[in-house]
Parts: sequence; C-alpha cells; structure tokens
Amino acid sequence: MSTGGRPALVGAELDEAEALVGRTPLVPLRRLQSRTDITVWAKLESFNPGGSAKDRTALAMLRRGWADGSIGPGSTIVESSSGNLGVALARWCSRLDLPFHCVVDSKVNRPTAALIRTLGGIVHTVDRPDPATGDLLAARMARVRELVGRIDGAVWLNQYANEAAIEAHSGTMREIAEALNHRVDRLYVAVSTTGTLSGCRRYVQQHALGTRLIAVDAVGSVLFGGGRADRQLSGFGAGTVPALAAHAQPDDVVRISEIDTVVGCRLLARREAIVAGASSGAVVQAFLRDAAQLPSGTQVVLLLHDGGVPYLDTVYDDDWVRRRLGVDAAQLEQPPADGLER
Ligand SMILES: Cc1ncc(COP(=O)(O)O)c(C=O)c1O
Repeated sequence: MSTGGRPALVGAELDEAEALVGRTPLVPLRRLQSRTDITVWAKLESFNPGGSAKDRTALAMLRRGWADGSIGPGSTIVESSSGNLGVALARWCSRLDLPFHCVVDSKVNRPTAALIRTLGGIVHTVDRPDPATGDLLAARMARVRELVGRIDGAVWLNQYANEAAIEAHSGTMREIAEALNHRVDRLYVAVSTTGTLSGCRRYVQQHALGTRLIAVDAVGSVLFGGGRADRQLSGFGAGTVPALAAHAQPDDVVRISEIDTVVGCRLLARREAIVAGASSGAVVQAFLRDAAQLPSGTQVVLLLHDGGVPYLDTVYDDDWVRRRLGVDAAQLEQPPADGLER
C-alpha cells in the first residue's frame, strides 16, 4: 500500500528502526582510576545495532529526509564516512530499499568497510589527499560531489552540516541526564563532525543542566583552532571544519596524541574489560588528565562512541602500532602515572 507515492512500509521500517536505536547502557567505571569520591560512568554506544553512536545520526537524517520529501522511492543515498556512519546507513538503507554509496578513505578499518559491503553498500575508497589542502576529508567530499553529479536520484545527506544529528544526540544527552537524575558535572565527548557534542550541548542548554562539555579531539585535527598534521587513526578529529561545529560550543577542548589514544584504549580494556574504539581511548586519557583535580563528589560521564573489535588489527595490534606510530609494545606497558596496574 502506498500513500501519495510514498510507501507506508517505509514509515513502518523507520519506526521499527527507532525502537532498536539508543537506550544504550550507562555503566559505572570503578577500576579506571583510584579516587572513590568521584563517580565515573561510561555511555556504551557500541550497543546500538550498527555498533556505534552513528546509528542515531543515520536514522535521524533519513527520517528528516523522508519527512521533508528530499528522500523517496528512487533515491540513492551518497555519504562520506570514516566508517561508522557508513555501517549505520548501509543497514537502514538496505531496510528501506535505497541504494547506498559510501565514500571512505584509506584509513578506514578493514572490517568496517567489509561490514558496509556486507550490508549492501557500495564502498568508494579515496586514497590520495586533496592536492590543494593535503586533506583526505576534502578528497572524500570531492568524490561525493562527483558521485552526486552522475547518479540519478542521488541524495547527499551531508553529515557535516545536517542538523538532524543535533536532534538525535540531544536524545543521547537526555538518556544520560535522565539516568543520573539530571546531575552530570562533566561530559567527555570525542569530536569529528561535532554532531554528538552539539546535540549534547543543545540538551544541556535547554535544561540548564550546568554540565561542562569537554571536546576530545585528535592532535593534528583542525577543529576548534587545531593545527593540521598527519593522522593514522579513524573516527575522530577532522581535516576540514564542519558547519555543525558552530553549534558545539565546548567548555574545554583537549587534544590527545595517537600514542596516548592507544594507551587509553588498552587501559580501558585491561582495567574495565571494555574493548572500545580509538576515540574512546582519547576520551579516557582526557578524563585521566583531569581526574586528580576534580572536586570531591563530581559526577563524570565518558561517551564511548563505538566498540573495539574493528580496531583489533590497528589500535590493539602491537605490530601495527610499531609500524605506524613508531612505538614498541614494551613502551606501551610503562606504569601509568596514577600508580595503578595496567
Ligand atoms: C568512533 C567515533 N568517535 C567519535 C566520533 C565523533 O562524532 P561526531 O561526528 O558526532 O563528532 C565519530 C564520528 O564518526 C566516531 O566514529
């Protein structure tokens, strides 16, 4: 049955998808650091069906496009992604019978690209940076524009500017706030498009929560005035400032090096048995830098964007770390400053 050429089935699929996304666990971290007078929680976004927070973003952008008529039968979705949004869109596009072209770059985790293909997405990999800027993201955008120009019915969702992401992640913050009786003193969030942080910011502002939002960025990312440098890890940081960044307004920005990111991931795995993606290691490190100075009673939330299985042959692989980051496994095992065992 269809309504005005727009199949009712799609609306039902979108509603079903909505029921599967979000309401992710918020778990206490008791072993990550030694202070017992502060409380630390982790929001585990890997529990979304596509394994990351980007399920929320993907669904919100598709819903908005479907509602405003920019997406319909005959549309082909085109998007640039570091991987997670690609997995999420591949899933929902498959359920909606919409062809999906995903532009990634050579830093994408191999299992992630394989997952996008397995879900029916067509993967286009860019391996040369944009000649003018030296930036891979700019090269991905150029490929998106080329695809949109030659595919009939192509729709570019543009996750870098699409405000549906803000609405989606206002929901992420609502879940956190409601679980903690609206008492969240500090939230650490990794940034790329800044959609997650911007959404959390919106909720915090609308509900006058007083939460300090800490943007966790990569050394080498140009977000919030950062200086460009080569980066190996996928998921967080950006080589081009996205339009959404104007909404983010972080209270603090912390930039974490790639090696500290790897150490943070491994620490989280050993101490809390949470195997998370690269950006979560950076979030852990950003928090640990502050931990000793926080007032007694502080309630902290670490937003962990994705799980670590797709990173087993990068972040968690000693050979990869030695080859790409030039650091030996033995150096990674140096005792941390807080004196706790790794
Ligand atoms: C693993 C991971 N962490 C952090 C982010 C940053 O999220 P946002 O794009 O909403 O800033 C992303 C985005 O792709 C991601 O995949």
